[in-house]
Amino acid sequence: MLGQRQFNPNSERPDKMAIQRTFSIIKPDATKRNLTGAIVAKFEEAGLRIVASKRIQLTLAQAQQFYGVHKDRPFFGELCEFMVSEPIVVQVLEGEDAIAKNREVMGATNPADAAPGTIRKEFALSIGENSVHGSDAPETAAEEIAFFFSGLELVG
Ligand code: CDP
Ligand code: MG
Repeated sequence: MLGQRQFNPNSERPDKMAIQRTFSIIKPDATKRNLTGAIVAKFEEAGLRIVASKRIQLTLAQAQQFYGVHKDRPFFGELCEFMVSEPIVVQVLEGEDAIAKNREVMGATNPADAAPGTIRKEFALSIGENSVHGSDAPETAAEEIAFFFSGLELVG
């Protein structure tokens, strides 16, 4: 949390659009199909910088905690089982308007609804196995980054 509180890249650039950090997961369906590099290329092409990155495999308890907001949804059990089924790559992406920009690059939750050129349109297998997670707001971005990374691991 300390690292997050100290982060204020906008303090000396009041004329510029806000630089944000957001949290991303390359999900098991994508790591399994060797798509990590292709997905990272999409982030970088959109102007997002990878300021932290690691490959991990979640425990079921960690997956349930991370997706706790969805615990009463019918897909919760299946989602958590999927998220522990293979390694994932967790990352922090930084850039102008990074939270919204990442959601744009990801595309809609259901790949059938995702716009052409988005990660989910090109790579997702289904609404559940949809290749990437991205934070949806500044508060969740800060919480999700702190869940996986210490301040020392964020290198901008
Ligand atoms: O990931 P995103 O923010 O786009 O969607 P969400 O509504 O926050 O749902 C989280 C994740 O739950 C999705 O990315 C899917 O992997 C999964 N999900 C599902 O399996 N079935 C649904 N009907 C909705 C979501
Ligand atoms: Mg979400």
